[in-house]
Parts: sequence; structure tokens; C-alpha cells
Amino acid sequence: MGPVEELPASPDHPRLQRVLARAGFGSRRLAEELIDAGRVTVNGTPAVLGRRVDPDVDRVEVDGVPVGVRPGLVHYLLNKPAGVVTTVTDTHGRPTVVDLVPGEPRVFPVGRLDLDTEGLLLLTNDGDLAHRLTHPSFGVEKEYLAEVQGEPARGTLRSLREGVDLDDGRTAPAKASLLAPNLLRIAIHEGRNRQVRRMCEAVGHPVVRLVRVRIGPVRDRSLAPGEWRALAADEVRALAEAARPVPARVPGERPGAAGPGR
Ligand code: URA
Repeated sequence: MGPVEELPASPDHPRLQRVLARAGFGSRRLAEELIDAGRVTVNGTPAVLGRRVDPDVDRVEVDGVPVGVRPGLVHYLLNKPAGVVTTVTDTHGRPTVVDLVPGEPRVFPVGRLDLDTEGLLLLTNDGDLAHRLTHPSFGVEKEYLAEVQGEPARGTLRSLREGVDLDDGRTAPAKASLLAPNLLRIAIHEGRNRQVRRMCEAVGHPVVRLVRVRIGPVRDRSLAPGEWRALAADEVRALAEAARPVPARVPGERPGAAGPGR
């Protein structure tokens, strides 16, 4: 028996559902549902409703992810389905991405996917990380699978990689490869409005279906459309690392002379 089990939390300690709610797993009711569903463990053992925990000692996990990376901050990864708008509210009453995740604490989407774009979207109340993930100066790469009309030729892939002239200027170098005759993998780090669709259109291959499959270091192949999960602590750390400020260029140094290309 480990030391934690020998010293169970006292009646002064909060109940697990309260700890979870405070850590951002929605209302107490939602936290109770997580516990009932067997998704919560305390010190490695499935938790029961009403259990008290000492937040300083007990190790609480939801879906195997430690709770309380930073108290109060939550980071959800959603597999956005087509037809859901990436806003907090919609004046036309359409379903929004925030309807698909817990309502408390309030979160907002990080960046934007078009109405018809599917795939990974982060929602958080971590304003600092959200800013860094969306601001082009931090250059966090996002990867998409684009089903397109027609079969892009080698030269087309080269154009996508080198930069395409759009009405708001030439796109920055991107990664592009052909996975199947009409399936492109494209990774960009600018995040302009409808950028992938416009790039593909500009090279003569309009997008039929667009799915985001990676945000910086974060991927997920297990979430069904409409499902979400909390990011693991190491995923939050990896995202923060990927969105670190780019060091200012040393005067006299050639741009791109050092460091990994983005
Ligand atoms: N590029 C697009 O064209 N649409 C998206 O939703 C995301 C990237």
C-alpha cells in the first residue's frame, strides 16, 4: 500500500467532483458524469463519486491525463465536424464549436476553421497560448489533408511549396505532397483566411473536402467527429514550446542562416 492510500484525504479535503470542476472539467454535474463513466482515477485507481482528495498529494487523472496542469486553465482538442461554426455564438442560431465542449469554464476557439472544414481545433481559456498559436509571427505549423478536384502535377506541388499568388499576397513556403491522385497533404504556418482552399483554387485544383490533422506537435486519430478530449500535460507543454517567440535576428546575420526552417 502506498503512502497516499495509508493517509486518505480527510473530511476537510474537497470532493473529487469539486476538484475537477475547479480544474476546468465543466460543472460538478459534468464532473460526476466523468467519474461515473470510469474516466477518472485517483492514484491510479478508478475513482468513486464522493471521494475526497488532497489536491497537494493525490494524483488525479482524467482519461489518463493529470488534472491541474495549471489550475483554472483548460485545453480541449475537438474534432470539428463540417457544418459547425467556429465562433462562440452564432447570430443565425447554427451550432457552434463551443456547444460541443463543456460550458464551464468558458472557452474560446483558437483560430478558425471554415464552416465546411473538419478536423482538429483547440478550445481554451488560455489567452496567452491562444494568441501565440494563432499569431503568424510564432509560425506554428498546421497540417491539412485536402481532397481536390483533378490530379495535381509535380509543378503544381512545387508552386504550392514555393508560394502561390493570392489577392492578399504571395503565400509563404509551405509543405505539400500528394498522398493519392486527388489527395494533398499541405502544411502551412500563416493561417490566412481560407488559405488552403484559396491556394488549391489558385493552382487549378479546388478543394472538395478539407480536414485539419495536426496543430504544431498535436495530432489525434482517435476522436470521432464532434468528440473532444482534454490535452495531456505534455501536449500543452509541447504546444507552448512550438509557439515560443522566435528570437530576434542578430544584426548582420543572414536570414535563415541558422536554426530549423519553418
Ligand atoms: N484553410 C482553409 O482554407 N480553411 C480552413 O478552414 C483552414 C485552413
